[in-house]
Amino acid sequence: MRVAVVGKGGSGKTTTSAVIARTLARRGLRVVALDCDTNPNLGISLGLGDEETERLAAMRDELDAGDAEHAPSWDELIDRFGSDGPDGVRLAVVSRIQNPEPG
Ligand SMILES: Nc1ncnc2c1ncn2[C@@H]1O[C@H](COP(=O)(O)OP(=O)(O)OP(=O)(O)O)[C@@H](O)[C@H]1O
Ligand SMILES: [Mg+2]
Repeated sequence: MRVAVVGKGGSGKTTTSAVIARTLARRGLRVVALDCDTNPNLGISLGLGDEETERLAAMRDELDAGDAEHAPSWDELIDRFGSDGPDGVRLAVVSRIQNPEPG
């Protein structure tokens, strides 16, 4: 199952995403949350804490600045640009996906 949360600024995207992700993870599903926001702060709502959320945001900045290499595969993306939250949600920051494979 894939869930995308989109909407106007301040409409509750981050809060809604975190509630969905944490609820599904607590029920035992494997959940990967992708934060595509240019200012990625989903980590706060997922419970990763300020420091870890800022670490992920800094990695996203490095990608945007061209100072870091994009991950060539899905597995490497969630490994290198991800972190685990307290409910078992794996969060990864994403800037763009090139040549996505079906699924
Ligand atoms: N269902 C809700 N009921 C009341 N307040 C809410 C609800 N969902 C979110 N909020 C509040 O609304 C504000 C904006 O929420 P949130 O940050 O999730 O929105 P966003 O769409 O991600 O914003 P942005 O576009 O800035 O990223 C926050 O203060 C949040 O606590
Ligand atoms: Mg948001």
